Amino acid sequence: MWCGRTRALLRVSGLWPTGVLGRRPLNCSAASLAGSNSPRCWNCGGLGGPLRGDRFFCPQCRALQPPDPTRDYFSLLDCNRSFRVDTAKLQHRYQQLQRLIHPDFFSQRSQTEKDFSEKHSTLVNDAYQTLLAPLSRGLYLLKLCGVEIPEGTDYEMDSQFLMEIMEINEKLAEAQGETAMKEMESIVRAKQKELTDNVSRAFERDDFEKAKELLTKMRYFSNVEEKIKLKKIPL
Ligand SMILES: *[C@@H]1O[C@H](CO)[C@@H](O)[C@H](O)[C@H]1NC(C)=O
Ligand SMILES: *[C@@H]1O[C@H](CO)[C@@H](O)[C@H](O)[C@H]1NC(C)=O
Ligand SMILES: *[C@@H]1O[C@H](CO)[C@@H](O)[C@H](O)[C@H]1NC(C)=O
Repeated sequence: MWCGRTRALLRVSGLWPTGVLGRRPLNCSAASLAGSNSPRCWNCGGLGGPLRGDRFFCPQCRALQPPDPTRDYFSLLDCNRSFRVDTAKLQHRYQQLQRLIHPDFFSQRSQTEKDFSEKHSTLVNDAYQTLLAPLSRGLYLLKLCGVEIPEGTDYEMDSQFLMEIMEINEKLAEAQGETAMKEMESIVRAKQKELTDNVSRAFERDDFEKAKELLTKMRYFSNVEEKIKLKKIPL
């Protein structure tokens, strides 16, 4: 009955699943070993020597080195490759890195170092934003584990969940005034919290299929969050 209507509406809105990814062999325990055969310094030609500190500067001439493409966000921000992160530590590390490589500190240096610092800074920002929010962190972690959820391709969702999303969207469309909007926000926030806790447990069990399903649900709710934000902007 309502199931047909749900399907039709979701298909129209582009939310209906068009395919489910097959399973791929997973290996998430591989450590992110970066720079084990470290390249020569672009400036003085010296070898990196024993890896030290943050690996950003040549130990001999102190010139800023280019970003290491083999390094993932978790390694860059000094976190364990895990869904559970300490956000206070994450922020601290982010600020520490920006104090090392931010372009403001390279205005008197060579163009090459200026360019590298721009690249480092962008990378550090992306890493921080990605690991800070549970949804993007979870999706990134899944990707490192070889599981991707392509944009626009939704996981096969149960109809009960799809109904729940439809109802929330209807409620949001009808919501008027600050109190009603606050109520919507707290409903969605509670949902995201519950889903985040469950994603965390799924990753702890290495249950990537479950994590993928839960993260897809989080994506639906973050769409709702976006709509709430838009509706709050006074016309
Ligand atoms: C996963 O990667 C680690 C480290 O590279 C390796 O020791 C382990 O054997 C791999 N496990 C599987 C199941 O391939
Ligand atoms: C990473 O995990 C190890 C082992 O589980 C733990 O001892 C260590 O404190 C963790 N490090 C961080 C930065 O959370
Ligand atoms: C989260 O996990 C609990 C316990 O397994 C379950 O009862 C609940 O329905 C789950 N919530 C969501 C939104 O998946």
